[in-house]
This record gives sequence, C-alpha cells and structure tokens, in this order.
Amino acid sequence: MSSSLYDRLGGMDAINQIACDIVDLHVANPLIGKRFVNADADALKRSVAAFLSSGSGGPDIYTGADMHTVHARMNIEADELLAVLDNVVAALKRNQIALPEIREVLFILYGMKEEVLRI
Ligand code: HEM
Repeated sequence: MSSSLYDRLGGMDAINQIACDIVDLHVANPLIGKRFVNADADALKRSVAAFLSSGSGGPDIYTGADMHTVHARMNIEADELLAVLDNVVAALKRNQIALPEIREVLFILYGMKEEVLRI
C-alpha cells in the first residue's frame, strides 16, 4: 500500500465531511446521544477531523487531550463503543470509503478501547 491512509480517505475535505457525519450520527443515536447534549458539535467536528487526520498521516494535527483523559470518568460501556464504531462505519460508507480503508480505521479505533472503556 503506497499512499497514506489519509490520502486513501480522500484528504482533508473528505475527512471533514466524515467527521461531520460521525458527530451527527452520535448526536442522533438513541444509545449515546445523551452523552453529547452539552457538547459544542462544531468544535467536536473540528476536533474529530484533526484526530482522524493525525491518526491517518495527514497534516492537520490533533491538539486535544489524549483519549484516556478525554473519556475519564465517563464510565463508557462496551455497547456504547460498539455504537460509536457502527457510526464510524456508517459515516465512512456514506462517504464512499472502500472496505480496506474501513477495516483499517476500525482496527486503529478498536485498539484504543482500553483508553475509553470503563475509566
Ligand atoms: C476509539 C473510540 C473513541 C475515540 C477515538 C474517540 C475520540 C474522541 C475525540 C477525538 C474527542 C474530542 C476530544 C477533544 O476535542 O478534546 C472525543 C470526545 C468525546 N467522546 Fe469520544 N472517542 C471514542 C469513543 C467514545 C465513546 C464510546 C463514547 C461514548 C458514547 C465517547 C464519548 C465522547 C464524549 C461525550 C466526548 C466529549 C464531547 C464534548 O463534550 O465535547 N467517545 N472523543
């Protein structure tokens, strides 16, 4: 695989749209939507886009707190993580991202589960 995941996701324009869709799906989700009632959705979209860029080899660098710090004291359960990952897959599909890239993103995010679950 020669090009970066960032390039294969379609660069910053595509990632901004994917981040936007992820946050919209989270807010609308019956299981996890309540977690986001006090969130600034626009700021969260920018932050998620920078996080995706950073993690896929892109130029936009995420400057927020690490995942453990961000999710500490939220007591997030496994079914909520599954809902988040389902939303990420739905957002990627909505933006015509192909299966190899979807798998790659999922693999990276799943690897962070210890940093967000039940902490
Ligand atoms: C691998 C899984 C996850 C990743 C990579 C992730 C990533 C992020 C990122 C990048 C932010 C923005 C942090 C900032 O700007 O300071 C964030 C915030 C947040 N995440 Fe997660 N997250 C994950 C799982 C979850 C799960 C399962 C939940 C529970 C439903 C959740 C709930 C939240 C909430 C409530 C916020 C704060 C929103 C706000 O008030 O601004 N996250 N997450």
